[in-house]
Amino acid sequence: MKIAITGKGGVGKTTLSSLLARELAEQGKRVLAIDADPNGNLAEALGYDADKDGRIEPLIEKKALVEERTGSKPGSMGGYFVLNPRVDDLIDRFSIEVNGMRLMVTGDLKEARGGCYCPENALLRSFLRHLMVERDEWVVLDMEAGFEHLTRGTAESVGALVIVVEPGLRAIKTAEKISLLARQMNIGNVGYLINKVHSEEQVSTIAERLGPDSLWGVIPFDFKAIDADFRGCALYESCDEMLGTVREVIERIKAEK
Ligand SMILES: Nc1ncnc2c1ncn2[C@@H]1O[C@H](COP(=O)(O)OP(=O)(O)OP(=O)(O)O)[C@@H](O)[C@H]1O
Ligand SMILES: [Mg+2]
Repeated sequence: MKIAITGKGGVGKTTLSSLLARELAEQGKRVLAIDADPNGNLAEALGYDADKDGRIEPLIEKKALVEERTGSKPGSMGGYFVLNPRVDDLIDRFSIEVNGMRLMVTGDLKEARGGCYCPENALLRSFLRHLMVERDEWVVLDMEAGFEHLTRGTAESVGALVIVVEPGLRAIKTAEKISLLARQMNIGNVGYLINKVHSEEQVSTIAERLGPDSLWGVIPFDFKAIDADFRGCALYESCDEMLGTVREVIERIKAEK
């Protein structure tokens, strides 16, 4: 099952991705967590100590690898390079073990909105295709709001798309755009989570706008999340209320499987 988590910046994608991935791992599933955010910090949210163990170099920053696989230097445009490079060994080589799961930091597509066809993007796209279409473990993909990572073909392999929204007009508008894109890309199972909620009224207003049927859960504003982020530690052990909702989302996703 491939779960993609998306939404406007700062709504709680990484926090919720880490809880989903960790809960699945605790349930005995084989989990691969993917940090595809340009300023990704999924590793830290999962309990990885970057100060002690060092920064994890994202896949697209591995210049020698990009050149070896695509036949072209990273950053070069226009020339010839392999569009479908070999990627099936990358998880074994570059993922790390964190709290009972594998974690891979890919980084983000380079200038994807400008349609950059550079070797790094070819490697990353090929890797994501492999991940979504060929792997059989549970994949939790912490993504940016845009859908540049997913192309037709990969998008259809997304088993569940979780849109995170917080009470705020920009987050709601982003959620609306994402759900439209998801429909256009034929992603069948799409739901949203309202995070950082302060009142019932916020829930009903957002549910009215985004549709009550695809509301998968509500998570109150919780200082424990802020505190875990501040201290750079995993939230899993200290957030029973949030975990309750995360477990419900997992059950729903399993039921759709
Ligand atoms: N339920 C919550 N209550 C209070 N704070 C929360 C809650 N969920 C997440 N946060 C806090 O909101 C901030 C942003 O969360 P997070 O990094 O998970 O968001 P994001 O969507 O991944 O952000 P980015 O777009 O920058 O990657 C963090 O400080 C996090 O601790
Ligand atoms: Mg994030």
